[in-house]
Amino acid sequence: PRAALTDVLAAAAHDRSGLGAFNVIQVEHAEAIVAGAEAAGRPAVLQVSENAVRYHGALAPVGSAMLAIADAAAVPVVVHLDHATDLELVVQALALGFTSVMFDGSTLPVEENLATTRGVVDRAHDRGVSVEAEIGEIGGKDGVHALGVRTRPEDAARFVEATGIDAVAVAVGSSHAMMTRTARLDLDLIAAIRTAVPVPLVLHGSSGVPDDHLREAVAAGMTKINISTHLNGIFTRAVREALAVDPSLVDPRKYLGAARTATAREVERLVRLLAG
Ligand code: G3H
Ligand code: ZN
Repeated sequence: PRAALTDVLAAAAHDRSGLGAFNVIQVEHAEAIVAGAEAAGRPAVLQVSENAVRYHGALAPVGSAMLAIADAAAVPVVVHLDHATDLELVVQALALGFTSVMFDGSTLPVEENLATTRGVVDRAHDRGVSVEAEIGEIGGKDGVHALGVRTRPEDAARFVEATGIDAVAVAVGSSHAMMTRTARLDLDLIAAIRTAVPVPLVLHGSSGVPDDHLREAVAAGMTKINISTHLNGIFTRAVREALAVDPSLVDPRKYLGAARTATAREVERLVRLLAG
């Protein structure tokens, strides 16, 4: 069934397991993610980014599919809006029935990020929806999740306190859209932030983090683990293979189905890995 982020995150944070949050681009991704979570017998997060919504031109078609797939799932599934900068899109997600939203004000001046995030929290909490947010840019022109950027524990604590958010994205050594799994996270910093901050911590850019290190990051205190690029790689490789094996193929179900199966298998593996 459709689940609240706070419920599944609290359970995961309590037993120091990781909650996999996987990005959806099309319906097959959502089907694969839920199939993988069901096979592992664990909850998961289906998330759609503002960028993916722009690709579709609207939230409702893909968002409604995600909600229907979550509702039919045998395990708890959170339906989350990822990296929203547009408040109108947040409002749409709340109206549609999303159970969680991320407001990403990381490029805003700090005070504006605080105030805007607080406004999102008020609106979302009114509807029982949880909010993830991200502290402002603290260096690195590639944004908050550049390899060299770090969140200071006291800044994270102040941000959570001032905004009332339910989960906080912190910069601990990962970077978005890495094609190799070579990132090294700062485990001591994760532990320090975990101690300083009362809400679950979110790792963005987890595609660049190798398996064993993901486990260590979860053990150190990261809870929501966002994975996108890595799954896209699995999906697209399977499409390429299916098309290469049979160049006369025209039915999308043949190659998208192969991609869905491969993605589900990898999601199951990752969900088990993160669960510990
Ligand atoms: O919000 C989504 C994630 O941070 C995904 O990042 O594509 O590097 O795994 P990734
Ligand atoms: Zn992200």
